[in-house]
Amino acid sequence: MKILAIETSCDETSAAVVEDGRRVCSDIISSQIDIHRKFGGVVPEIASRHHVEDVLPVVDLALQEAGMTLAETDAVAVTQGPGLVGALLVGVAAAKALSYAAGKPLLAVNHMEGHMYANLVAHPQLVPPFLTLVVSGGHTMLVDIPAYNEFRLLGETKDDAAGEAFDKIARVMGYPYPGGPEIDRLAQQGNPQAIEFPQALRHEHSYDFSFSGVKSAVINYLHHQEQIGAGYSPEDVAASFQAAVVDVLVDKTVRAAQACGRETICLAGGVAANSALRARLSAAAEPLGMRMLAPTARLCTDNAVMIGARAYYQWQRGDTADWSLNADPRLPFTGGRQG
Ligand code: KG4
Ligand code: ZN
Repeated sequence: MKILAIETSCDETSAAVVEDGRRVCSDIISSQIDIHRKFGGVVPEIASRHHVEDVLPVVDLALQEAGMTLAETDAVAVTQGPGLVGALLVGVAAAKALSYAAGKPLLAVNHMEGHMYANLVAHPQLVPPFLTLVVSGGHTMLVDIPAYNEFRLLGETKDDAAGEAFDKIARVMGYPYPGGPEIDRLAQQGNPQAIEFPQALRHEHSYDFSFSGVKSAVINYLHHQEQIGAGYSPEDVAASFQAAVVDVLVDKTVRAAQACGRETICLAGGVAANSALRARLSAAAEPLGMRMLAPTARLCTDNAVMIGARAYYQWQRGDTADWSLNADPRLPFTGGRQG
């Protein structure tokens, strides 16, 4: 089963061919990061225009790299949402046209479920059950995956996503978009105990998160230091901020894994590339007899491979889309909220 997958939810135009949900036959990503960097973040209208220009060439390259024609694919999958509506629409329109022209089934994928399924590609032996922590620029959620095609949302952020806080703080410190990797790099030279930033909801029983408080506290600290002419160490600010976020993520994730009786914790989403998060989570999991897995950096950030992987399991249960398929910028997550 070879699925041609398309992902255009934000600022990457990506297409891939994935076989049986696990084997990557091709993987093309055309990133617009350099274009959006000039504006300090993603400009939706510009993103849509670039998707329009890039989507078909990117699909052609993905087919070429896989050594096949459109007629030789078995299905076409696309990200339906969540994401930027104009950006999503480009991928959905392209996928519908390709699927109609080739007479192949159409599969509509939830972007967040795709991020979680990237782990199945990165770790060929991995099978459910496992717990996932999805941390991206738009979302932060803890999801239990008891079986294929089943998702149980345990908790999520009540305000900012973790990646959003990383990006905002980096921006205020004068670093280019996306700021997460910059903070990660700076933090490696800084002292995580230098400044105490708040850790909202850390000791609350729920699995929900809140990052707007720590974000504001860091920004206030930066402004205050500038106002009194004291300056600050970007390395210490990055390390202290990152530690505040990572501690909460690690505590809640490990607690959720214990409560669900899971031995495997999988990271997903762009912030899963964060080196402190990976190190701290695996160090916390191991003594408890759990293991932590994470996709490669390329599979952590937005890509079509994860969409092809997720689509395969939808196809197995006959979950195909029809021509009425439309982009949904706030597509709800399949798993219902669990308590
Ligand atoms: O999953 P993704 O590519 O896009 C969304 O669906 O949001 O995630 C992008 C986010 C950005 O906020 C970026 O700053 C963050 O992932 N990110 C990181 C790192 N690499 C990417 N955050 C912290 N540390 C990193 N190493
Ligand atoms: Zn994403």
